[in-house]
Amino acid sequence: MRQQLSAGNWKMNGTTAQLDELRALVAAHKAPGCAVLICPPATLIAAAADVARGSSIAIGAQDCHAAASGAHTGDLSAPMLVDAGATHVILGHSERRADHGETDAGIRAKTEAAVTAGLVPIVCVGETLAQREAGETLKVITTQLNGSLPDAAPAGLVVAYEPVWAIGTGRVATTDQIAQVHDAMRAALTERFGVDVADATSLLYGGSVKPDNAAEIFATSNVDGALVGGASLRAADFSPIVTALSDASQP
Ligand code: PGA
Repeated sequence: MRQQLSAGNWKMNGTTAQLDELRALVAAHKAPGCAVLICPPATLIAAAADVARGSSIAIGAQDCHAAASGAHTGDLSAPMLVDAGATHVILGHSERRADHGETDAGIRAKTEAAVTAGLVPIVCVGETLAQREAGETLKVITTQLNGSLPDAAPAGLVVAYEPVWAIGTGRVATTDQIAQVHDAMRAALTERFGVDVADATSLLYGGSVKPDNAAEIFATSNVDGALVGGASLRAADFSPIVTALSDASQP
């Protein structure tokens, strides 16, 4: 069955001092009942992988280039991230779609590159507030999903639903809104890739997940975990989210 995953996205936050938070997480979760991932800025991946070595916490990246190497100043390839100690990579985050003009086709190429390098891709989709208010949410999500995922969907794929209006705003989607999108995503994956791949895909919710709303979100239909921004920066905030998912994952 699919993995239950509590993933932290540190975004452009943290220098080496921030690794103390990772040390605290490693100490607090020796045998968590779910998978735990921290995606620090690229400058910290190798050091974070050192801190997490031998622990139950995995380290991921926040983006990769679609090519394995070449003349792409400032970019990082998927094999480089693997070499630095990453096992996962976030792709198509709405901040990258907005700040860097990332398109579904470009994200699909990055997803293919990640899979080829052996990274687990965490492909992000999400509607803006204007799109939600126009009643376009499910159309936007299925279009992004279809465009961003390669035809040969990898085993153990992760998809994150992150409504743009809920990211970093403290405004969390309701469980009804989350369930509607997550159920639709599972159905779309089943239709395109078949039931085995769809069942093996972890669907994360992201957008203002905090210790006090995590349990309710994890009890929602087709939610297999969370992609957490702000609340992943402090072990004191992220740790209860990991515990909530561990508790929700017990049979
Ligand atoms: P947030 O960010 O938890 O700070 O809302 C979520 C994300 O962007 O992954």
